[in-house]
Amino acid sequence: MGCRIIGCGKALPALDVKNDELTKLVDTSDEWIVTRTGIESRRVAVAETGTDLSVAAARQALGWDEGGYSERRVDPAEIDLVIYATITPDAMVPSCAGLLRRRLGLERAAAFDLNAACSGFVYGLSVAESLMAACAPNAAGASGRNPIRRALIVGAERLSRITNWPDRNTCVLFGDGAGAAVVEWDEERPGILSSFIANEDDPTNALTCPAAYDSPVPFDNEGVSLRAEEHDDSLDAVDEELGIRAHIADGEPRQVLRMDGQKVFKFAVGALSAAVDVALERAGLTLDDVSLIVPHQANERIIRYAAKKIGRPLDFFQVSIAHRGNSSAACIPMTLADAYENGRIKPGDKVVLVAFGGGFTSGAVVYEA
Ligand code: COA
Repeated sequence: MGCRIIGCGKALPALDVKNDELTKLVDTSDEWIVTRTGIESRRVAVAETGTDLSVAAARQALGWDEGGYSERRVDPAEIDLVIYATITPDAMVPSCAGLLRRRLGLERAAAFDLNAACSGFVYGLSVAESLMAACAPNAAGASGRNPIRRALIVGAERLSRITNWPDRNTCVLFGDGAGAAVVEWDEERPGILSSFIANEDDPTNALTCPAAYDSPVPFDNEGVSLRAEEHDDSLDAVDEELGIRAHIADGEPRQVLRMDGQKVFKFAVGALSAAVDVALERAGLTLDDVSLIVPHQANERIIRYAAKKIGRPLDFFQVSIAHRGNSSAACIPMTLADAYENGRIKPGDKVVLVAFGGGFTSGAVVYEA
């Protein structure tokens, strides 16, 4: 028995900002960005809310729309739990999970948001699996608790709202998007074989962002963007919305991500390989049993270093950073959807999802497809 991933999906904002466009804003070059990060372009949500993107990603994962991967159509009343991982929520109250629940008509679901930075989706998956193991209808601890048999886990971000656009060290790295997965408790088959979640102090504040951020996309009570009809996809529109040139002239905005890239890089390479080791050991497996690793997508060079560290080629990892950049909690579910769409995950395969991020958080999940 186990908690199986039965669907996943992804959604990206319409506006695609290529490296060359960023050279109009800060002193950088396409060549520097590609060689140091593997990133060629990223999506920026000018018209879409995070909830809009999550609805589209979740509909694929639930088997309602084309795209992503889905074993079957899941009815709204079958979902017992929604976990929405983000560091850039559309609203604090109601939660984005609550908005998503309403828009998808998931009327039986309990719903909450979760912040574990870029590890948010892996944390969400681990929490959902633990709740299911304790609270699935036949589980030992089920009585007296919410029965949880199916969950929707989302990672969604609009990092463009907290990106320090005048800072070339960070502004080239981030992008927006949403990914989702549906998990189901199965009495017969295994699914998640092990999980690991961890925090480590970040004593030098190598990666921080203050509590609030400015200028959300205006939206209605259900989190639907009021811009959908009128949006303008030009870089000038992004500039007008995010005030990039004004910030460059006036100095840094306050509520932005700040990062010491090299410290985070070092943490990331070590955390990625350590999390894979611990999760595999807990599952009683070795790398030889694994078909694919789906890592957080912060920088292609981090994945290359980690690949070297664990003695595997880059091809052992699903790498999807080139046209998206780092979209924090959204990266892993979007990358997982890519792996299914590209036919890289087949029934019975053992797959590792592995994340690291601000906090410093890290985590990994090993599952059998
Ligand atoms: N364009 C051109 N030059 C740039 C630049 C850009 N966008 N960003 C930085 N530089 C310059 C620096 O100013 C520095 O110049 P200097 O030597 O004259 O001072 C030089 O490039 C080297 O900078 P450095 O910080 O050593 O580069 P790096 O190879 O470490 O790459 C990062 C920087 C940010 C890409 C890399 O450290 C990284 O990916 N860190 C981890 C980020 C991360 O994972 N964050 C999220 C965690 S979930």
